[in-house]
Amino acid sequence: MRFVSASDYEQMSRKAAGVLAAQLLLKPDSVLGLATGSTPLGIYQNLIAWNREGMIDFSRAKSVNLDEYCGLSPEHDQSYAYYMRENLFSRVNIDPANTHIPNGLAEDAQAEGAAYDALIRSLGGADVQLLGIGHTGHIGFNEPAGEFIGPTHRVELNPKTIEANSRFFASMDDVPRYAVTMGVGSIMYAKKILLAASGADKADILYRSFFGPITPQVPASVLQLHRDVTVIADEAALSVIREKAPEALA
Ligand code: F6R
Repeated sequence: MRFVSASDYEQMSRKAAGVLAAQLLLKPDSVLGLATGSTPLGIYQNLIAWNREGMIDFSRAKSVNLDEYCGLSPEHDQSYAYYMRENLFSRVNIDPANTHIPNGLAEDAQAEGAAYDALIRSLGGADVQLLGIGHTGHIGFNEPAGEFIGPTHRVELNPKTIEANSRFFASMDDVPRYAVTMGVGSIMYAKKILLAASGADKADILYRSFFGPITPQVPASVLQLHRDVTVIADEAALSVIREKAPEALA
């Protein structure tokens, strides 16, 4: 486990984008595991700029996204398919046919999950999986639960997550209650994990995820078992780790 500190959101975004850019430089046909939410927006802006400058090339890259809301079509402006088109795919030279997101409209969520995991396996797994972290400790939409769920599956969103994500919707009632998410096993299958975090509101959960017990009550704690995890976070998000486990940040 590596912790890379950044002064603020902008620097965190540049450093995390640098990891993804290096991955593409070293292996142009990389499989990038991608995330949505507020955290990766700055990372994607850096990647777009570097792609325009000719520094990085997505023409042979492939991508697998973590999750999608159930019931939203890819055209819905709050779907994660729409988010990815708007914030990355339509602005870099990636082939849309090489980008993959779970289908939130699938009638049979279990079959969709199995097909998505088969797809990930057929691509050889993500070379690097970008993650954000929710206030509940969720990764993807793996919410606190009685057990870790391995495969891609349909999940009921935690009330805290619905509240946090309501900022993107007209009202709380418009936030979908269910999502399809890569399971913990699908995420752990990635060769490398890159978790990005920003802001004081993530400081406590970041500490509990990496220095607390490994438990499905804190889904991100499973990452303690992955052999190649890099956490890039700004000082605000690292504040509790800096206070309680400063040796990790040396
Ligand atoms: C997004 C995802 C979520 C977010 C998490 C943090 O694809 O899977 O786990 O990474 O909810 O969201 P932000 O970055 O908005 O704080």
